Amino acid sequence: MKISETIKSVRELVNAARNAGKRIGFVPTMGALHIGHISLIETAVKQCDFVVVSIFVNPTQFGIGEDFQKYPRPLETDLEICKKAGVDVVFAPSIKEMYPNENLTWVNVEKVTESLCGKSRPSHFRGVATVCAKLFNIVAPDFAYFGQKDAQQAVVIRQMVYDLNLPVEIVVCPTVREKDGLAVSSRNQYLSRQHKKDAALIYKSLQKCRQMILAGETDVSVIIDCISKVLNQSLAIEIEYISVVDAQTLQNLTKISGKILAAIAVKIGSTRLIDNILVDTSE
Ligand code: PAJ
Repeated sequence: MKISETIKSVRELVNAARNAGKRIGFVPTMGALHIGHISLIETAVKQCDFVVVSIFVNPTQFGIGEDFQKYPRPLETDLEICKKAGVDVVFAPSIKEMYPNENLTWVNVEKVTESLCGKSRPSHFRGVATVCAKLFNIVAPDFAYFGQKDAQQAVVIRQMVYDLNLPVEIVVCPTVREKDGLAVSSRNQYLSRQHKKDAALIYKSLQKCRQMILAGETDVSVIIDCISKVLNQSLAIEIEYISVVDAQTLQNLTKISGKILAAIAVKIGSTRLIDNILVDTSE
């Protein structure tokens, strides 16, 4: 496995692979790799001939007061994980390499960035879309892998790729969960033991939501009420939003129909957690 810290060197490595007729897979990450990231990497390794993983804690997607400084950066462990998973190149650039001067060009995806997490994190998706556009231009992959865990991010990236005709296929992989259902996240390590127990209510409430929809409930306000009752079983959970939206447009629904996304953001202590489920009522 090669480790590349510069744009020039990762381009050379990928070009050589492409010239050898290899299909290039790319998994963008911010490191602190866990089984969620590993599932993306394993899928990429299965589907492609040459896999690049980027590890870059992207400053432009963190808002003021968010956890950019304290975001975990266990590079050595991450490299071990990548090597074991069969990654060909880890691209781990410095901030200076990615943003050598003040960045004046931004990718703003409209509408789908306005609901859900976009409300409380106004410039977050601008940072995500911009860094992903830069990474796609640097790595030039055939396939790029994202997790359903960050459902809105996946929708935003798909929209950007579609609108800008970027020659990459986006593959979205299922959310990996802990035994109690909690979606695996680098931020789970900030939780105390009690808070981790409380956090299991998030997925429990989403499962309840799925059951209600499959049993024929179509009134979104009734469903949201029920989710909020489950979450309120813990006094530590502070609800940021509970939304039931169209899975493609991310617009709020009042009646359930078609493919829907039920998404939640909460704070437990100072840790912000998100989760979601997709339910297809047209199946
Ligand atoms: P990061 O939070 O490191 O996540 C990298 C990828 O792993 C994302 O596509 C995310 O959805 C996926 N992922 C995280 N937890 C997962 C889980 N439990 N199950 C399945 N997939 C999971 O998302 C980012 O980094 C950044 O915004 C990035 C796209 C790298 C741009 O900076």
